[in-house]
Amino acid sequence: MIRVLFVCLGNICRSPMAEGVFQHMVNEAGLGDHFLIDSAGTSGYHNGEPAHSGTLRILSRHNIPYNGRSRRFSPRDADQFDYVLAMDSDNLRDMQRLVGGRRDNLTLFLSYANRAGLTDVREVPDPYYDGRFEEVYQLVTQGSRALLDHIRAEHGL
Ligand code: 4NP
Repeated sequence: MIRVLFVCLGNICRSPMAEGVFQHMVNEAGLGDHFLIDSAGTSGYHNGEPAHSGTLRILSRHNIPYNGRSRRFSPRDADQFDYVLAMDSDNLRDMQRLVGGRRDNLTLFLSYANRAGLTDVREVPDPYYDGRFEEVYQLVTQGSRALLDHIRAEHGL
């Protein structure tokens, strides 16, 4: 089982979108049985809440179901997940602080899309204040495609 965790600040906008999009891509590829996919936030500000209406609207427009609830990232997640993908460098730094240092499995989500030449954008911008959910969706889709390609190559799937 390959364990993948998407992480942002609130776990209501970006990381739930990435979780939904990546799960959908994995299912479409017929690989659902190989993956455990989840998301979390470094803050805990929105613990127990459903995803933001902007994220739910975009996902439903693309026929992607999502019913997850916000939860806070725990240092145990860094032990339990094979790939822990931070939406921005603040999220990455906060996780490193919570786990007490750098870990190879904690990376920037878009680093795979950067390496594959899909985008030069290095961080997924926070749509919570400016409502740019469509732009986030495009980046999340590119990031998910590159991540899945990377994992398939790494695991021979
Ligand atoms: P997210 O967006 O990290 O993509 O879920 C945010 C959600 C809530 C807050 C900030 C960012 N907040 O400050 O409550």
